[in-house]
Amino acid sequence: MINVIGLGYIGLPTALMFAKSGVEVIGTDYSKHLVDSLSKGKLTFEEEGLENLFNDAVFKGIKFTTEYQNTDIYIIAVPTPYIYSNKKLDPKYVLSAVNTVLDVCNKGAIIIIESTISPGSIDKYVRPEIEKKGYVLGEDIHLVHAPERIIPGNMIHELEHNSRTIGADDPKIGEKVKGLYSSFCKSEIVVTDIRSAEMSKVVENTFRDVNIAFANELAKICREDNMDVYEIIRIANKHPRVNILQPGPGVGGHCISVDPWFLVGDYPDLTNLILTARKINDSMPTHVLGRIRDIMREHNIKDISKVGIYGLTYKENVDDIRESPTLQLLERMDEHLAFGVKVYDPFVKTRIVDHQFMNFEDFLNEIEILVIITAHDQIKNKMDLIKNKLVLDTKNICTFEGAYKL
Ligand SMILES: NC(=O)c1ccc[n+]([C@@H]2O[C@H](COP(=O)([O-])OP(=O)(O)OC[C@H]3O[C@@H](n4cnc5c(N)ncnc54)[C@H](O)[C@@H]3O)[C@@H](O)[C@H]2O)c1
Repeated sequence: MINVIGLGYIGLPTALMFAKSGVEVIGTDYSKHLVDSLSKGKLTFEEEGLENLFNDAVFKGIKFTTEYQNTDIYIIAVPTPYIYSNKKLDPKYVLSAVNTVLDVCNKGAIIIIESTISPGSIDKYVRPEIEKKGYVLGEDIHLVHAPERIIPGNMIHELEHNSRTIGADDPKIGEKVKGLYSSFCKSEIVVTDIRSAEMSKVVENTFRDVNIAFANELAKICREDNMDVYEIIRIANKHPRVNILQPGPGVGGHCISVDPWFLVGDYPDLTNLILTARKINDSMPTHVLGRIRDIMREHNIKDISKVGIYGLTYKENVDDIRESPTLQLLERMDEHLAFGVKVYDPFVKTRIVDHQFMNFEDFLNEIEILVIITAHDQIKNKMDLIKNKLVLDTKNICTFEGAYKL
């Protein structure tokens, strides 16, 4: 039996996949509210295909509880935030989960950490914690790091089809865990050591961040001289070895906007490029504010409440708002005492910010300038409704002439 610890965006679909594939699974989360919801058959977030997967897994007997289970294999998928002041990983959730596992596990148990951690974290934080309790690593406890790379919005497909990395101290344990993940993963599973697994995961997200920053810097250069950044990227990408990403209103989410800080925190003298990329991406919400100001001036609109932001989530067609560009933008407005901008997101069903609308048409009726921050399918299918507004399209999705761009 596998005990999956932490039933959030990563732990829940992973637990369900194992269960659907016939592995006995118990999912544990310390949030009673979350466990109660899942036990009643109510999902805790929206994701394409999650409901079917959930029903299949429940049919196969998955259980949810707040209690850690006595068993031989644990998968830990708890949050790993960074400490804002020093940009280093905060390992408190992982350490708390590992400690509670140690209280209940069998001798020889395998603890698989799926949470994203900064390179060296297992050596620095996890091993000492286990040894402190008198356990011998490699005998009493086997450590594995199996970072996750799925993307919200396509999680179920990617769980099955993405390649995976298994970092283990003991290659035999690595192979055993590889066999386990093969129950649902149809792609290549690479077995390596723990340090390499830790580093490769953070490097992947940092690569994305740096490349997005390049596109965002181009957007700013092109804005300065009134050039069309999208046209320039489209042409440049015809070069067989060029593949520039699209610019946007900022980088959010729990991975790409967080993981590069782990490298900056641990290697401050060696991360000039990575730090600069982070700063460029973090500056994009301010760039969007500048564009809103340009449009307001051009049309002599003085009232900020005539501006409506479309999208609160950090990415299209998901309900995850963590570190989202809109939240970053609202925070910056707040710092300058600029209140009253209206907000709408079809995926956010509870009121989390001021002046948030729950109905798209009501929202549109109240505003003159529409700022598209998130390219949900909903708005892509409603171009007719917005084409008479002043639109700032930060995602380049408008199919009509005249929308303002980044
Ligand atoms: N969300 C993503 O897209 C994504 C993608 C790849 C990797 N990751 C990584 O996966 C990890 C988990 O992220 P997430 O998005 O699933 O987080 P999340 O916040 O959605 O879920 C974490 C869950 O863990 C529970 N929890 C925390 N501490 C616990 C403990 N000690 N015992 C039991 N339960 C505990 C929380 O109640 C919460 O339900 C992070 O390290 C993250 O960086 C996330």
